[in-house]
Amino acid sequence: MAIFSPRMMRAIRSRFWYVAEDGGGRKRIFFDNAAGSLVLKRAHAAIERYSRLSSYGGGYFPDASVVDHLMEHARRSVAMLLNAPSPASIFTGESATAVLKRLAEAILPSLPDRCTLIVSAADHNANIDPWRRTAEQLANKRLRVKQVTFSRATGTIDLDHLESLLDERVGLVAVSHASNVLGAENPIAEIRHLLDQKAPEALLIVDGVHFIPHGPADVQALGVDAYVFSSYKVFAQRGICFAYANDRILQLPHYKLAPAPDVPPESWEWGFRNPADLAPITEVVQYLAWLGQQCFPSASAKDPRELGHCVRLGQTAIRQYEHELVRAMLDGVGHTPGLRAIGGVTIYGAQHPTTIHLKEPTFSFNITGWSSGDVEKILWDRYRIAVRAGDHYARETLHHLGITDCVRASLAHYNTLEEVEKFLIAIQHIARHDQRRE
Ligand SMILES: Cc1ncc(COP(=O)(O)O)c(C=O)c1O
Repeated sequence: MAIFSPRMMRAIRSRFWYVAEDGGGRKRIFFDNAAGSLVLKRAHAAIERYSRLSSYGGGYFPDASVVDHLMEHARRSVAMLLNAPSPASIFTGESATAVLKRLAEAILPSLPDRCTLIVSAADHNANIDPWRRTAEQLANKRLRVKQVTFSRATGTIDLDHLESLLDERVGLVAVSHASNVLGAENPIAEIRHLLDQKAPEALLIVDGVHFIPHGPADVQALGVDAYVFSSYKVFAQRGICFAYANDRILQLPHYKLAPAPDVPPESWEWGFRNPADLAPITEVVQYLAWLGQQCFPSASAKDPRELGHCVRLGQTAIRQYEHELVRAMLDGVGHTPGLRAIGGVTIYGAQHPTTIHLKEPTFSFNITGWSSGDVEKILWDRYRIAVRAGDHYARETLHHLGITDCVRASLAHYNTLEEVEKFLIAIQHIARHDQRRE
């Protein structure tokens, strides 16, 4: 039986803003989640509620205590979401782009001279450029940056290639938990295992931005040293990124104002963060727990320790359902053929039945005879389907694929099989009418 019944699907969709219509009241299908998910109504309400307060905590009066409490609660929620050992291991920044650069600036000076950094060809530039650029800025250290490639069949990091790059001189490996173009989940625990064997001193830095709305991330089980994600990809809003880092990283010297707190996590934050930005993540975590309880009714969230368990169940339910979406996108719905059976469509990343369990419902493709920008426009103008065309800020991934741009249709768990069917019908029409023949 499908993990989400029709009733459950309606309940899920009712919790989000603009799930079937856009902000102007136009009916549409939203397949642009990888650029920014839909927003939970309760997350938005939390922003509204907390934006009314004076935003500075730490004072001796009730509103300041409310702010302090909500910041602490947000850190606890994120620690639960990532199964981090403590809320004190969670800090915030304005975006993943900013936080990864801040991590690079703190970590690289601490590494031995002449060591090797490994970045991944399957990553967004946010997890490549900071390592490269900071290594260049520290020219005296003579750090070498190498890039691990990915398998075209699965879209995941090529572990054999990674192994061939590893030795005791490797100081850091930076990879994404899932590629925002290929939608493929990287085997982070296996990467850790390889590092333990061949480069035990190497730090493992994971960009979780694309993965986090799609499944459970357990920083302890994965053995990562830092894990970064942004709120706007996981049902909340732009303007805030959360990072887990272990003590080895948190204790490194880092830029802070002299009067600012000396101890992590606050010492890593630049200025006092906007409480209204932090509040929504707690609503996201509550939503995931609710989903877990609905889909696995024997679970209970009465005990706070069980709340974490329910969150994981919610994420598991999302995974299971999204695999149905992946199958439908690739194999079709009813009599409507899937993407891989439509002539003229080139899909990038996993598409073989044995590998699609590694895939998030993120599909990058091109259609013969059409530019990616044309496909994006036609999907909107004729079919009211929102997708995105371009390089998705993952230039190196596209370079390895031999392309400069592609269309990306990215789904989330509130998307339906009916929407998938309408999308596939639209793609069939477009592919049939090769522009060169029109
Ligand atoms: C995988 C991945 N990493 C990093 C980023 C950058 O995130 P931010 O906008 O928070 O800097 C994105 C944004 O699309 C992404 O998809």
